[in-house]
Amino acid sequence: MSSHMHTGTGTLSQDHHPTLRHNEREAIGAELQDVLIELLDLTLLGKQAHWNIVGPHFRPLHLQLDEYVEAWRLASDAVAERAVALGHNVDGQSRTVAARTQLAPLPEGPIHDGDVVREMSERLVDAIGHIRTRMDRLEDVDAVTADILHGIVAGLEENLWMLRVHAA
Ligand SMILES: [Fe+2]
Repeated sequence: MSSHMHTGTGTLSQDHHPTLRHNEREAIGAELQDVLIELLDLTLLGKQAHWNIVGPHFRPLHLQLDEYVEAWRLASDAVAERAVALGHNVDGQSRTVAARTQLAPLPEGPIHDGDVVREMSERLVDAIGHIRTRMDRLEDVDAVTADILHGIVAGLEENLWMLRVHAA
């Protein structure tokens, strides 16, 4: 027995959307896929720093990084599900993230707390820049998707502030 939804006029296709055209949804989905890659890589980098940080500021930064990772996972989920809601399937697999991320890897081994602040701040600046560029391109295409990115950028910029104060 099929579980496909039916309307009065036939099967409800993913191609039907109240307002956005197919090519618009494809363009939005492609931007969201790139944002997803960046957010997923941030979660991996955040855990790498969380595990390998050393130095007198270990504990607050260790805990702070885990809060960030949790927020970035939630953000990645919101981005991925917005894309799929628009009919664009996403790929968040490790090989895809590794092949397509624009963020630099962290050095291997222990990372001193001051270096964690500097290295993670640099990657946050990069991610914010990339996501802002994609957000700006979406402003006139779909305000709803742009709003999701507005919230994510606001969160990342708060993260950056609260990380950089360690280096003041
Ligand atoms: Fe942990």
